Amino acid sequence: MKNIILTGFMGAGKTTAGAALGGKLQLPVYDTDHLIENEHGLTIREIFQSHGEQLFREMETQLLGRLPSEPAVITTGGGIVMRAENRELLKRAGTVFFLSCPFDEIYERLKEDSTRPLLYEKTKEEIRQLYESRIPFYRDGSIEIDTSGKTPEEVADCIISSLG
Ligand code: S3P
Repeated sequence: MKNIILTGFMGAGKTTAGAALGGKLQLPVYDTDHLIENEHGLTIREIFQSHGEQLFREMETQLLGRLPSEPAVITTGGGIVMRAENRELLKRAGTVFFLSCPFDEIYERLKEDSTRPLLYEKTKEEIRQLYESRIPFYRDGSIEIDTSGKTPEEVADCIISSLG
């Protein structure tokens, strides 16, 4: 079995669906943000504060070049798909799923969030623009799973059915 990679915007439910999927398939679950945090001994927020987004993006690309090779569920940071190089690395690393969700549903989940640096001091419209600008990148080479109104377990079941 190949790695199963989950992409999607912040708040799309990658972490919860990934955990459900790992449990159902008895596979380890890795999260790119957590791997970067562990490797550098800093939180994502601290990395953005002290090194900036650009360096964080470099860390993401570096990490994708050496993902675990055993079958695993890999959940990713919402911006990892922005670089073409990363999208190619993801496709090579496994089957890529885009967890899609309507913006208003995502915004309801994100509006009280204080941990995600890209949301600081942004209006709803600015976050919507970021969301819309990324949709083509999420769709590139992935299988889209509509998560709207689904529990993480149901999302995991949809992914399993699409694996065939
Ligand atoms: C980001 C999403 C975050 C994290 C970082 C940047 C983004 O991950 O990688 O804050 O650019 O959308 P989640 O999608 O898990 O929140």
